[in-house]
Amino acid sequence: SIELSLRPERLEQYIGQKNAKENLRIFIQAAKMREEPLDHVLLFGPPGLGKTTLAGIIANEMGVQFRTTSGPAVERAGDLAAILSSLEPGDVLFIDEIHRLPRSVEEVLYPAMEDFFLDIVIGTGPSARSVRIDLPPFTLVGATTRSGLLSAPLRDRFGVLSRLEFYETEDLCSIVERTAEIFETEITEEAALEVARRSRGTPRIANRLLKRIRDLSQVKGEKAITLETTGHALKMLQVDKEGLDHIDHKLLRGIIDGFRGGPVGLDTIAATIGEESQTIEDVYEPYLLQLGFIQRTPRGRVATAKAYHHFGLKTEDESS
Ligand code: ADE
Repeated sequence: SIELSLRPERLEQYIGQKNAKENLRIFIQAAKMREEPLDHVLLFGPPGLGKTTLAGIIANEMGVQFRTTSGPAVERAGDLAAILSSLEPGDVLFIDEIHRLPRSVEEVLYPAMEDFFLDIVIGTGPSARSVRIDLPPFTLVGATTRSGLLSAPLRDRFGVLSRLEFYETEDLCSIVERTAEIFETEITEEAALEVARRSRGTPRIANRLLKRIRDLSQVKGEKAITLETTGHALKMLQVDKEGLDHIDHKLLRGIIDGFRGGPVGLDTIAATIGEESQTIEDVYEPYLLQLGFIQRTPRGRVATAKAYHHFGLKTEDESS
């Protein structure tokens, strides 16, 4: 499907994330030269930056199968045992949201990662016994929003730690142009750049916005997506000049209007605007922090002067 083909399959085609990409290229090449599986890889960073895509690329580059699951989906040690014992030598097992693995499952994973065996307890009470199951050597690729969400013993078992960053506008622009080509849609250079600027450094957002802009452009009967239509569509979608959406606005105005700019605790602001604390922390805050619109202090979140100015407001200092 088009959705699937949007994902690049080789490292060569993967745009941006220079640091992660260059490092992985070396580690993959070395593992292949030694005819060994790649060391376990932990990918971390905000959602939508391409962690799953990169995991799939690692499997393709290593020439092995790509198997996927997620932390919440693996409820019992037995579920994990079933997955691990069905792997073929060298396979990549991708565990998304790996920080959400139950602790009991995590403990089964340690010897699997370290020495490729499982210690499974069969039965209960006096007849309980432990059996050892040897596993094929494999590569675990874990993904999480922040490496700090993992327990130290789990984090320590990854040989490669790779942080994904928000994309540069130039790289996002190349991604928008690549996606437009896959959609067989023309887009002007200035329109592609505008989508890139207003996508919060995030390819998943850029590709989603591009789809909606393409809808409007098509209905207007345009031959190519123009800057004007891009602006029009982004206004309809309530995406502002900095790429901030309705929820970013609620969050910032909540701090500014409700708490005189803060500091205010995460849970307090979450309750005030009716969003989950975890969602604010993982999805909304990282980009606002990067833009310099909020700061985290020991006493809570603070809206900066830059945030006030974005809304055409003066800070209390500036108005006194
Ligand atoms: N589509 C989404 N993310 C991408 C990336 N980093 N490179 C190429 N195409 C992409």
